[in-house]
Amino acid sequence: MTADDLKRQAALRAVEYVREGMDVGLGTGSTAEHAVREIGRRVREEALHVRCVATSNKISRLAAEVGIKVVTLEECPQLDVTIDGADEIVLGTLDAIKGMGGALLYEKMVALATHEEILVVDGSKVVKKLGDHTSVPVEVVRWGWTRTRDTLRDLDCEPVLRLGADRSPFVTDSGHLILDCRFPPMADAYPIAKAIKQITGVVEHGLFLGIVSRVVIATADGVRVVERDWS
Ligand code: A5P
Repeated sequence: MTADDLKRQAALRAVEYVREGMDVGLGTGSTAEHAVREIGRRVREEALHVRCVATSNKISRLAAEVGIKVVTLEECPQLDVTIDGADEIVLGTLDAIKGMGGALLYEKMVALATHEEILVVDGSKVVKKLGDHTSVPVEVVRWGWTRTRDTLRDLDCEPVLRLGADRSPFVTDSGHLILDCRFPPMADAYPIAKAIKQITGVVEHGLFLGIVSRVVIATADGVRVVERDWS
């Protein structure tokens, strides 16, 4: 079984939480794309009638291609469920790092507008501590970005400007840059999240803390659903 097969299995299981008449957030990334295609398949079969808000221009285009009605967050400011991917996730709290796909700002806005945020991952994304494998993507305004980078460095991380395939700076859908900030594994991510957010020039960061209610994990042993431990 390939990694993509696992991603698809997780996505298909998560789509079972999407019900008739719901308003749905569509995440970004290769795993979330499987969910978009499956929702589209059900919509085309007339088995499902939903409105969807996309978390990136790419997913908005894909959703329209597969027959999904896409609306804006202004038109639909409260969503029932969102299915999105993740780059790292800690079981128990279901705290996560997101944004390696570059869509963290819209992903977080949609997640915060959602009653139930569901992440879909293969087993490789599960970590003991946030930062075990992945940097924290931080979206910053372009103007004065080197100063913002230097201020982030004061938080004891190593920020690296993300580049696109053509080696020029990667630009997000909202016209910003991304600094991938390498932190040591985090015993407590909350003070780090707060400190990043307080820096003028930072738009948003990829630490999703206390936001996720459920994760669907696919491994070679099968698919399991893990609920957030609210205690
Ligand atoms: C997009 O900005 C990210 O948050 C993605 O959700 C994340 O990178 C997961 O992508 P994959 O499903 O492709 O691993």
